[in-house]
Amino acid sequence: MEEELIQIKNSAVSLILDAKDKEELWDLKIRFLGRNGRFTQAIKELSKLPKEKRPEIGRLANEVKNTIEETISEKESQVTKQRGRELKEKIDTTIPGIRPPIGHLHPVSQVLYDVVDVFKSLGFQAADGPEIETDYYNFEVLNIPKDHPARDTQQTLYLDTRNAKVNPGEIILRTHLSGMQARTMEKIKPPLRVIVPGKVFRYEQVDASHGFEFWQVEGFMVDKNVRLTDLFGIIDYVLRKLMGEKIKIKFATTNFPFVEPGVDTYMECTVCKGKGCSFCKMSGWSEIMPAGMIHPNVLKAVGYDSQKVSGFAFAIGLSRLVTLRYEMEDLRLLTNPDLRIINQF
Ligand code: PHE
Repeated sequence: MEEELIQIKNSAVSLILDAKDKEELWDLKIRFLGRNGRFTQAIKELSKLPKEKRPEIGRLANEVKNTIEETISEKESQVTKQRGRELKEKIDTTIPGIRPPIGHLHPVSQVLYDVVDVFKSLGFQAADGPEIETDYYNFEVLNIPKDHPARDTQQTLYLDTRNAKVNPGEIILRTHLSGMQARTMEKIKPPLRVIVPGKVFRYEQVDASHGFEFWQVEGFMVDKNVRLTDLFGIIDYVLRKLMGEKIKIKFATTNFPFVEPGVDTYMECTVCKGKGCSFCKMSGWSEIMPAGMIHPNVLKAVGYDSQKVSGFAFAIGLSRLVTLRYEMEDLRLLTNPDLRIINQF
């Protein structure tokens, strides 16, 4: 047995020293020290030896094992170093590398992040809602009953529900985010300040300033004594933060069934600097932020006491804001996948 162990050691060491790479070393390790390896098999005989011989042979076996393991690890670091040297000779480290293409935020995301930051600084929280909406939240709860003419102004895309257990017309793509006013208010008690960024969908004639799918940021605040002047103040502050102190803003009255009074915010068109172009339909102004005081019927529908609390709501036309900030002339550029366009912003 003694001789066999010494023989194992010698042949292992000489094979290891001849090995050329890590794979070969790995194979040798298994061949000698693996479960069916020569060394492992040999020491199984240890128990058959007479008792007084065992400690001596045991020590020898240990020494053999250690020698094999040490030789392998020494050889391993040697072949690794050698491989490094070979690679260095082959690779010209002075040739400039190829930079991986690094993306950047889409212009819509850039402006959206800014919008969220500004509102956060004013104590607003951001919420998210479903793009597929029910007639109830998109219209009914917002004081727009089934036969209300205001439905015509929101060119609605209906989902095909023929195989579903709902009445036809009940499930739609949300035409605006105002339904999130009700969804949120049903869950939280006032006071609240919330913004909801998201995509909305309309069956609309597409042109330079209108898309059938576009981004809005809805916002609303409900508390005791919230007034129209608070709304004016917030709109003015937010738009100047986002678009620069110098912008020109004007307000006009408007009508949405879920606000009273309704306010429309216009910003001087940045594309033509107010001269008139296809983006602003030759008016010099762009409608950017419809708003108003939340209608008492909406507050009642979500279980708020409209005698005790009041609030305002608004919707930033985010896609429009992006085009106006970057003076883009056409909102359709935002969904154009050509990187030569997007990389400019
Ligand atoms: N939801 C309205 C729209 O997109 C805009 C709006 C929001 C008006 C909030 C008033 C208050 O048509």
